[in-house]
Amino acid sequence: MLKTHTCGELRADHVGQTVTLAGWVNRRRDQGGLIFIDLRDRWGITQVAVDQATAPQAHAAATEARGEYVIQIKGVVRPRPDGTTNPNLPTGEIEIEATAIEILNPAKTTPFYIYGDEKVEEALRMKYRYLDLRRQRMQRNIVLRHRVIKYIRDFLDARGFVEIETPILFKTTPEGARDYLVPSRVHPGQFYALPQSPQQLKQLLMVAGYERYFQIARCFRDEDQRGDRQPEFTQLDMEMSFITRDDIMALVEALMTGIVEDVSDRTLLTKPFPRIKHHDAMEMYGSDKPDMRYDLVWVDVSAVAGQTDFGVFKDSLAAGNKVKAMRVPGLGAESGSQLKKLHGELEALARASGAKGLAWIAIDPGSGEAKGSIAKFFPADRLAALAEALGTQPGDLVLFVTDTAKVVYLVQDALRRDIADRLGLTDPAKVAFAWIIDFPLFEWNADENRWDPSHHLFTSPMAEDLPLLDTDPGKARGQQYDLCCNGYEVAGGSIRIHRRDIQEKIFGLIGLDVEVARERFGHMLEAFEYGTPPHGGIAPGIDRLTMLLAGEPNIREVIAFPKSQQASDLMAGAPSVVEPIQLQELHIRVADSE
Ligand code: AMO
Ligand code: AMP
Repeated sequence: MLKTHTCGELRADHVGQTVTLAGWVNRRRDQGGLIFIDLRDRWGITQVAVDQATAPQAHAAATEARGEYVIQIKGVVRPRPDGTTNPNLPTGEIEIEATAIEILNPAKTTPFYIYGDEKVEEALRMKYRYLDLRRQRMQRNIVLRHRVIKYIRDFLDARGFVEIETPILFKTTPEGARDYLVPSRVHPGQFYALPQSPQQLKQLLMVAGYERYFQIARCFRDEDQRGDRQPEFTQLDMEMSFITRDDIMALVEALMTGIVEDVSDRTLLTKPFPRIKHHDAMEMYGSDKPDMRYDLVWVDVSAVAGQTDFGVFKDSLAAGNKVKAMRVPGLGAESGSQLKKLHGELEALARASGAKGLAWIAIDPGSGEAKGSIAKFFPADRLAALAEALGTQPGDLVLFVTDTAKVVYLVQDALRRDIADRLGLTDPAKVAFAWIIDFPLFEWNADENRWDPSHHLFTSPMAEDLPLLDTDPGKARGQQYDLCCNGYEVAGGSIRIHRRDIQEKIFGLIGLDVEVARERFGHMLEAFEYGTPPHGGIAPGIDRLTMLLAGEPNIREVIAFPKSQQASDLMAGAPSVVEPIQLQELHIRVADSE
């Protein structure tokens, strides 16, 4: 080794020892005869003092060294002089008195500072990702990710799970996105598809009798990029046989609790995790991944609204819509001008989600009377009815929205998130999980005039809803469960279909031609006829989970080499054109792009 200790290791008890350290020059302070170097490696920073009088060679090297030079230092550990210790640094009690310094490699001036938390433009960070990854924030995130994965492996190993790798070059495995395709050289005109998840393969491993499988699995999905999505990402993919939904939820709940409490420095808010029916989540929060760190809840106040003389409410109710309201404690006590400004901003948000407006009242903390855009429709008796339905109190701001369910859900979700941010209820140091259960099996795809699976093709209907597949598929519920955390979906799973006849019926309902289904999924259908155990599984997204545990706003911050918004690698320049000969070998001709 070129070092005897790390830069985060030396303490007062090492005083007097001769050591060798190696790393990067974090900072250098030249005081003439004395030069101080803060030497950095992954483990920390150690101060090195280089005295021209006692170590002229080392001093000459230190004079030459610049930020990010890679150097090796030999020296003796000594206590820092009184008044110069640094309590903010774990090594702050000592320094190294250098006896020799070797410059192992010089460095050009970096395009941004490696130390400190200077905000650097995203594209520059991505172009020089190896320098970005050298920064403390990224090193912390990448190490956290490693710890999360290590915890998962140990946890599942202790419970009889086997880690099995499945192929990346495979056949279409749909999870609702486009496939990434890889052309075959050997089979002209044919393509592999990169897996959107190992879904089929893990089910086949259950047919094969492994009973408890997991994989830290890379998945590929060609879909629009967002802060919580990457074209390639990593799942903790799991599958179990002879298992019930509750078994899987209990196992994952224990795993998540362990990760948060033993690996991260976050506070876990709710134990056990609440379980919310999909329908209720939509009604209360307008979202199937509600942020449960705060309890802002929308309530159906159609009954009270119908008793007011407000035309918008009456007309909307007559059209079969609901009127939803949410109380925001405290905000109603703001001054008139503040309320007007606030309402203007909230209404703009509601309109952006498709609503025609956003009605509001504020309940005066003194008089208890209503003021606001529809205050005149809320005399004392209507206010009392509202208090009964919504639990309103003096000082509350009450927001109302009415439209079709689709629009109202969007508004509910957008306003809930926005108001929580305004009230400072979204502390990233806290995490709150919730299970969402009892999903509808299908969503109607009006464009294509067919049912789409709300999870994926292989999710089993609830046993008692099986007859609905023939009569009213839209009402059938799936044995699906999602885990959400702080407003993100962090895991999705289901109990699977393990019978050929039911699987074929689902293919039919989603409009898959029998021949196409056999061509794409014939191996699954066939496998179901060779003794397939009842089975189910789940897949937490490792990137999203780590992002939340790191308190980061984007999964790029916890992926070593992520793709940009445009799905490119800005460092290496991928994707890129290839040699004509390569295309020829792959039997591919590039069409002229318009
Ligand atoms: P699902 O499609 O819900 O389920 O994916 C599971 C979890 O993976 C994460 N995730 C993503 N993370 C980053 N970027 C993406 N583009 C992305 N897409 C999904 C999410 C999500 O909850 N085969 C099923 C699992 C199963 O049924 O067992 C599946 O893939 O955190
Ligand atoms: P108006 O009577 O048109 O002045 O509207 C009174 C209030 O009702 C305003 O604050 C509007 O933003 C609000 N409003 C209008 N349409 C809706 C709607 N569909 N849902 C909720 N509020 C609405």
